[in-house]
Amino acid sequence: NSCKMCKSADERLESFVASKEFDTAFHRTETQKQKCGFGLQGVCCRLCSNGPCRITPKSPKGICGADADTIVGRNFLRAVASGSACYIHVVENTALNLKHVGETKGIIKSEKALNHLAKKLGIEADDKYEKCIKVADAVLNDLYKPRFTKMELVEKIGYGPRVEKWKELGIMPGGAKSEVFDGVVKSSTNLNSDPVDMLMSCLSLGISTGLYGLTLTNLINDIMLGDPVIRMAPVGFRVIDEDYINIMITGHQHSTFTSFQEKLKEEEVVELAKAVGAKGFRLVGCTCVGQDLQLRGEHYQEIFAGHAGNNFTSEAVLSTGAIDMIVSEFNCTIPGLEPIADELKVKMICLDDVAKKKNAEYIYLDRNKYDEIDRKLINEALESYKNRRNEVKIDIPKDHGFEQSLTGVSEKNLKEFLGDSWKPLVDLIANGTIKGVAAIVGCSNMTAGGHDINTVELTKELIKRDIIVLSAGCSTGGLENVGLMSPGAEELAGENLKAVCKQLNIPPVLNFGPCLAIGRLEIVATELAAYLGIDLPQLPLVLSAPQWLEEQALADGAFGLALGLPLHLALPPFITGSKLVTEVLTEGLKDITGGHVIVNPDPKSTADQLEEIIIDRRVKLGLKD
Ligand code: SF4
Ligand code: FE2
Repeated sequence: NSCKMCKSADERLESFVASKEFDTAFHRTETQKQKCGFGLQGVCCRLCSNGPCRITPKSPKGICGADADTIVGRNFLRAVASGSACYIHVVENTALNLKHVGETKGIIKSEKALNHLAKKLGIEADDKYEKCIKVADAVLNDLYKPRFTKMELVEKIGYGPRVEKWKELGIMPGGAKSEVFDGVVKSSTNLNSDPVDMLMSCLSLGISTGLYGLTLTNLINDIMLGDPVIRMAPVGFRVIDEDYINIMITGHQHSTFTSFQEKLKEEEVVELAKAVGAKGFRLVGCTCVGQDLQLRGEHYQEIFAGHAGNNFTSEAVLSTGAIDMIVSEFNCTIPGLEPIADELKVKMICLDDVAKKKNAEYIYLDRNKYDEIDRKLINEALESYKNRRNEVKIDIPKDHGFEQSLTGVSEKNLKEFLGDSWKPLVDLIANGTIKGVAAIVGCSNMTAGGHDINTVELTKELIKRDIIVLSAGCSTGGLENVGLMSPGAEELAGENLKAVCKQLNIPPVLNFGPCLAIGRLEIVATELAAYLGIDLPQLPLVLSAPQWLEEQALADGAFGLALGLPLHLALPPFITGSKLVTEVLTEGLKDITGGHVIVNPDPKSTADQLEEIIIDRRVKLGLKD
């Protein structure tokens, strides 16, 4: 392929993509190099037929009189509301799935997780199924409240000092769906013109996104899909085995697959695969749902091939020719997959109409018909395998990725690993062996230096400075595929962190899995803060979403800011056309929630900046520097 291509931190991935004729995001990044300057700064408004209006020094106001601050504020709030909506959709479906488990006495994979969550929410029930229903209802009732009725679980799952702060600021969220709804209303034509008011709405949306969309989704999934277990697993393209019928799963709603995953394990289903010449069925993980499956891989070893790669790796995964079917249920299933799937005769099925793909068959996920749906999915996979395997060339770069990568870390098992206490970690931080903690989260994009380049470089710079990295999201897919969670990665860490890694037999980057697991990182942070008796902005902990991609990431970012954390981004959101919005997010917020946005495209100087923040917090806490 002679076209110019975007770079990746993952060189083997890059050479594999270059060896194929398919059009991918790596190629389209080159043809999309020319960006719209107005869009980039967030100062293009097309809310009404007088527009699109574009703000320039000579035309500082739109026809209606809206200035750059108002236009940027509206655009930003719209984006955060959309992002929040996506995550609220995920937690709503997850809670509905749990309710169904309760009502039908379905599979409860972890009663421990059920009791843990019920206790957290103050829910009691004699019977475990009734407990599922009550937990699900508590979540759903909150999601459906009107906006001026505050959600009840925020006080139960939010960190005490933070909840007080949010009350003081008047940003406690009302019903999560109503918050999204009114975010859209506020940002429509000729309604809200106050950018600060709109930014405060973003913080409320951040809180509901984070505590419900992220934290609760994980905790509910633990019940239905099993608790994460720390283990070594292979990662990258090497996990794909052409001897199996391979089903690639993409999306974010893992509990959608609960029944299907169990079904694939059944002996008679394996026999069906054998009858067409395969050894069985394998799910190939891609994007966040794959990360979530990898996290819980201990329970699904027979049917889980492993995690192949993140969002912008998915086209290359498909290009191997070894994937027989794609089942998607949410976002990060990029449209670029479609022509490749057509050419390679890969059947596409989607299980949620919010993510209907134009060449996919949509199956309505009727919770009372799991059996029928599972059978349909299995038959389609068998058919696809039979139809395509003789016609399509298979080329799997078996040297891609790593045989051993540490995965399965959660807020619960990390604490257990440390001896059922945060004390060992706090001690290491207190005596300066570990300088601090950086959460590297969010997506992968193609524009911050190239695919995963900023994420990988920044992570290397941080561990070199004895800052331990916890990761969640598609960034994790990039980090594991270049070996930062594999044995040997400790050699890249500073002397002190390296010694800790060797002693505990862990890599310097800990893999918490999908972007949803940002909610797990929040629990780690709050438990560390609670142990020390301090609020979150005092912790020597920084947050970075170096290669944030979507509106969802902006809603996650708003959560980080509401938590009072410093949030680094390699590329700014589309706000720079407004001095006011930019100033509030990068400076003003420090005096409001304690958080602030840091924009820096250079990994090395970003690491310096983040290290400085960590050292400053250490000094203020009176810790050894
Ligand atoms: Fe222009 Fe105002 Fe209409 Fe936006 S809402 S397109 S700024 S006139
Ligand atoms: Fe994600």
